[in-house]
Amino acid sequence: HLRLGAPPTPRLHAVVSLSYPSTAQPASRSVPFQRPLPLISFSYNKNRELEFSDAAIRYYVEPPPGADLGYAYERWVHRPEEKGRLDGLLRAISEIRRRGTGDPVIGVISWRGVMTKILTAPYEDRDGWELNVMVENGTLYLEEFISDARLEEKDNMTPRQRIQTYYGYAFESWCTASQPDAPSGWGGDVDTNVQWCNVVKTKLGDVRIIIGGEVDCVRGILNDTMVELKTSMNISGHRDEARFEKKLLKFYFQSFLLGVPEIVVGFRTPGGQLKTMQSFKTLEIPRMVRGKPNAWDARICLTWGEDFLTWIKHTIILGGNASGSVWRVKFTPCTGVELTLLCEDERREVEAGEDRVG
Ligand code: A3P
Ligand code: MG
Ligand code: MG
Repeated sequence: HLRLGAPPTPRLHAVVSLSYPSTAQPASRSVPFQRPLPLISFSYNKNRELEFSDAAIRYYVEPPPGADLGYAYERWVHRPEEKGRLDGLLRAISEIRRRGTGDPVIGVISWRGVMTKILTAPYEDRDGWELNVMVENGTLYLEEFISDARLEEKDNMTPRQRIQTYYGYAFESWCTASQPDAPSGWGGDVDTNVQWCNVVKTKLGDVRIIIGGEVDCVRGILNDTMVELKTSMNISGHRDEARFEKKLLKFYFQSFLLGVPEIVVGFRTPGGQLKTMQSFKTLEIPRMVRGKPNAWDARICLTWGEDFLTWIKHTIILGGNASGSVWRVKFTPCTGVELTLLCEDERREVEAGEDRVG
């Protein structure tokens, strides 16, 4: 477990910044990303208890044509928004060590949602984010920082946002069953407490990374290949197409980082009726968008990702104060990132909270 040691000198505020990479120029170099190797899987049950089993695994089934994504909305068991704490992932890492199936981690540990935000930052022009960064034995622990005000905001969705969010979960239920080879149909009422998660190890350039994240389902019994499920609005015309291609950047990295080879997208009407399905091979997505207007380049993201992680590591470790200190990274779209050493009061605030799967 991550134990914070002696607090850093109070009031010491170091601020360093890293500027935003240009997406107008090609990537300055090619940074390799190692194929993710699975280390462990675990499940959250209906009571939101973590167990080291595949109890929550789901199997892919074809959804019925025209399925209603608003079905059983009133029965949705809705897990409240949580702070992006690392608890579940840290427990999984302890279990990996206990089993002796993984080598000691020197590098970066984070949820997949955080890594996706970092890597897609060069193309993010709307939503900023903040992270807490902790260091222990030369390893960086990165978690999302969500202020109480922001958490409340996220919890107070408008009825319209709420139903749109539900469509995504209902799609998962229409597309999955608890047993392989089950008939097509409703897979059970949505309970967002229940999740099946995987932890993988990988390497971005010279940085070793352990990533945990939710996996929506697997295909087949024998070759259990993981599948990510997504919904998106029907495409009619070039503008919709361009919007979808932009979204594919996030779909791509979300799946790529955990080594999920397939993304099944259900296209729906604004009112939540499933219209068409399309399956994408994750690794082919960058080539599909290349050369299009407003295309993104995954190499820019990977290069940026390595620069960003190396920059944090160098700043914190060269700056001394590494062990037991807590830092805050703030990303501002179109500007860059800023790294600040938290003072004692702020650090104490970071120490309360719950976990969440990215
Ligand atoms: P869609 O992505 O199909 O819209 P995930 O796709 O990551 O498995 O997440 C499942 C669903 O959770 C999403 O379905 C969406 O409804 C909801 N969701 C995930 N991240 C969200 C976010 N940042 N804001 C709102 N809803 C989100
Ligand atoms: Mg999911
Ligand atoms: Mg999904």
